[in-house]
Amino acid sequence: MPQADARLGRVVRLLADHATVVVSGTKIASEIGTSRSEVWRLVQQLRELGVNIGGHPATGYSLNSMPDLLLPDFLAPLLHGTIFGKNIQHYYKTGSTNNLAMEAAGDGAAEGSVFLAEQQTAGRGRGGHEWHSAQSVGIYCSVVLRPELPPSEVLVLSLAAGLAVQRAIRDIDSRVHPDLKWPNDVLIEGKKFCGILTEMNAEVTRVRHVVVGIGINVNQASFPPELQGVATSLRLATGSEWSRVELCAALLKSLDREYCELTKNAGARESILRRFCKGSSSVSGAHVAVDENGGFEGVTEGLDSRGFLQVRTVEGVRPVLSGTVRKL
Ligand code: BTN
Repeated sequence: MPQADARLGRVVRLLADHATVVVSGTKIASEIGTSRSEVWRLVQQLRELGVNIGGHPATGYSLNSMPDLLLPDFLAPLLHGTIFGKNIQHYYKTGSTNNLAMEAAGDGAAEGSVFLAEQQTAGRGRGGHEWHSAQSVGIYCSVVLRPELPPSEVLVLSLAAGLAVQRAIRDIDSRVHPDLKWPNDVLIEGKKFCGILTEMNAEVTRVRHVVVGIGINVNQASFPPELQGVATSLRLATGSEWSRVELCAALLKSLDREYCELTKNAGARESILRRFCKGSSSVSGAHVAVDENGGFEGVTEGLDSRGFLQVRTVEGVRPVLSGTVRKL
């Protein structure tokens, strides 16, 4: 498993804490317990990652601007009082944060552990699709949960994550109207900017752990040709850059609220289903094609009590269990 290089975060934190002054390489080296030449190497690595650091070994270093990196040092203070503030792991580059989180959960990672990456080289979506995860323009985030739920009820958790994304975005910019697409996409004007991949390890009647992986296109200025017609980012949709740190904190706070409600309050599941329907333009009354069991078409008729999409076909109402739903 690749190690999160916490020293990179500590260099940034140290420079951020002394934002107006030049900090000597010797001071940084002694604070993080390494050599001056290693500090130089870390600074070079941070520069390659887009962190704007001035200076050189002879003069010392200073931050020219505050970087928008998803560092635990930046996020943890914003997440006090939530289940997500205590164990945040940050990676500059990894295969997939869902893989890291699933592996860590299997090894006993605490509920609420968060895995974040600046870049994923093997970001995954539902159905074995790839999730485009370019460096420092998106949020690639996976969290470990240990709900006391039977596996059949985990879908509601995934729907709650969609609601958390929608809420976080509206809280930051009320002009944006994200639309939920069952089961795990969030769209703006018909284009996808967020996908959620919920995976679990379970016995037949009991969930051991769940990993909710959330990918948000935040500051992408463009997409590869094959995604151009279907994908967007918050920047493309609003015309301005977003703070990933602010959005990530808002997302985890919102997810904490949804999750704590769900685990403590018997009525929460119904509220999630109701709000999901309200926040989606396609869960009711949309003519759709479903690529499941040879494919079928029909008109959506809301969600059943476990959160499965109901589609009225010529043969009657059919639930969609795992297929992809496309509006016609
Ligand atoms: C989908 O749209 O099918 C779901 C995409 C989920 C992408 C996120 S990014 C963070 C986490 N790590 C992954 O490899 N996938 C999820």
